[in-house]
Amino acid sequence: DLYNFRLIRPDTKVYGIIGKPVGHSKSPLLFNAAYKSVGLNAVYLHFLVDDVEKFFNTYSAIDFASGCSCTIPHKEAALKCMDEIDPIAKKIGAINNIVRRPDGTLTAFNTDYIGAIAAIEDGLRELNGVSPGASPLAGKLFVVLGAGGAGKSLAYGAAQKGARVVVANRTFERAKELAEKVGGQATTLAEVENFHPEEGMVLANTTSVGMKPKIDDTPLAKHALKRYCLVFDAIYTPKETRLLREARETGAVIVYGTEMLIRQGFEQYKNFTGLPAPEELFRTLMEKHA
Ligand code: ATR
Repeated sequence: DLYNFRLIRPDTKVYGIIGKPVGHSKSPLLFNAAYKSVGLNAVYLHFLVDDVEKFFNTYSAIDFASGCSCTIPHKEAALKCMDEIDPIAKKIGAINNIVRRPDGTLTAFNTDYIGAIAAIEDGLRELNGVSPGASPLAGKLFVVLGAGGAGKSLAYGAAQKGARVVVANRTFERAKELAEKVGGQATTLAEVENFHPEEGMVLANTTSVGMKPKIDDTPLAKHALKRYCLVFDAIYTPKETRLLREARETGAVIVYGTEMLIRQGFEQYKNFTGLPAPEELFRTLMEKHA
């Protein structure tokens, strides 16, 4: 009963996820259940899309679609089809959430960075208590491992919150390029093992090191984790990577990659509907269909 077909009418709002491949995406499951839970006359479909520009040329001309999510390999190419782009998403160079305004224009967001940063901020609040106003990331030394798409998201997101960013990447040139853009420092993955300038640092892994099936790998040795108060891993297969397990054993607060995944979904739902996300429903469905 994924799509509730009997309920589709001419005025039903149509959302979906565009990607290739796309059939594995759990977004239709989550969004259709969410729409149903609040009685919204809307459906959310899988769109297998080859040529993203062609898709948007058609999509903008026809009057049916209300918004869409955007996944691999279209997160960058879709940028040039937008009328308006969230400034940080533009800097990151990738979008994953597109809202069609009533006048037909397309506005794009990157909810990956918003979801990851929100999860990390909540982790820090758990540690330090809630102080109103400023982000708990303000002034923190924030080390990002990796300088690919996810690395950019974390680096720009943390810099926007006032963190002091260090980008560590296997290929130093890529670290340097990203660090310069966010006003941070650059180093290599090898050198970051000996980087312990202060207590209470935050670590975010965005490399693929430790991902299934190579679950015994880790991007940073356990002895180098001592001065981090919080460690986030963007990897979500396995749920707890070796990095997170060792960080937990070292006494850091850990934030799972699944948190980024689920929270980016909350943000998409809010942008699509203007309503608060049904967080418990999303969490229950994600667990049930893990
Ligand atoms: P994503 O969009 O998920 O960030 P990506 O753009 O392909 O993916 O970036 C992958 C990141 O993981 C890069 O920072 C890459 O380092 P390089 O820039 O040196 O390629 C890093 N990475 C991938 N495999 C790695 C490995 N075996 N050891 C260290 N870093 C690795």
